[in-house]
Amino acid sequence: MPQLYDIFFASSNKYKYQEVKKILDNFGIKAGFFKCDLTEIQADTIKEIAAQKVIDAFNQCKKPVIVEDDGLFITSLRGFPGPFSSYVYKKIGNKGILKLVQTKRNAKFQSTIAFCDKKKKPILFEANVSGKISKNLRGKGWGYDPIFVPSGKLKTFAELSNKNELSHRYRALKKFASWFLNKRVSTYR
Ligand code: IMP
Repeated sequence: MPQLYDIFFASSNKYKYQEVKKILDNFGIKAGFFKCDLTEIQADTIKEIAAQKVIDAFNQCKKPVIVEDDGLFITSLRGFPGPFSSYVYKKIGNKGILKLVQTKRNAKFQSTIAFCDKKKKPILFEANVSGKISKNLRGKGWGYDPIFVPSGKLKTFAELSNKNELSHRYRALKKFASWFLNKRVSTYR
């Protein structure tokens, strides 16, 4: 690949890309944006969705690529919206979620980063961050950021200035970066 970028991040979500870019920059990895719509299978786990999505991404992009599949899992709702987070957000939004969550507010964000190159064998990196659903909307942010308070903090993701140092996305990308940088060293050895 011409060495402008080390990897592409395929998604239709520019907010995700902005976070991915900042996080990977800090690990010394340059990520380009491959903006596209990817086919999402119906599946019970975000792992399965990510693995399928990254093959579709590679077929479109033809370069080493990563995708992310993630979701918000609310314990008292048996993991809802989970793999359907994107759809549910569009349908009922944060206000709808706040109505559904009553007293037990525990939740977690889960992220799967999937990598694929011409070998077409997806490699997955998973992480999560636990926390609570806030009682009301707090701060300006995308997706569920205004209603998610990570464990050990009093502010929502939308209110925190350092979301990118503690999010599910950061944790999964940290695992990916460590593997990718190692792989690059061994390729050039
Ligand atoms: P998908 O992985 O693109 O299918 O979408 C998962 C959905 O979860 C997103 O569309 C967002 O609504 C939500 N989501 C995932 N990660 C975050 C985050 O870091 N902040 C806010 N919402 C998120």
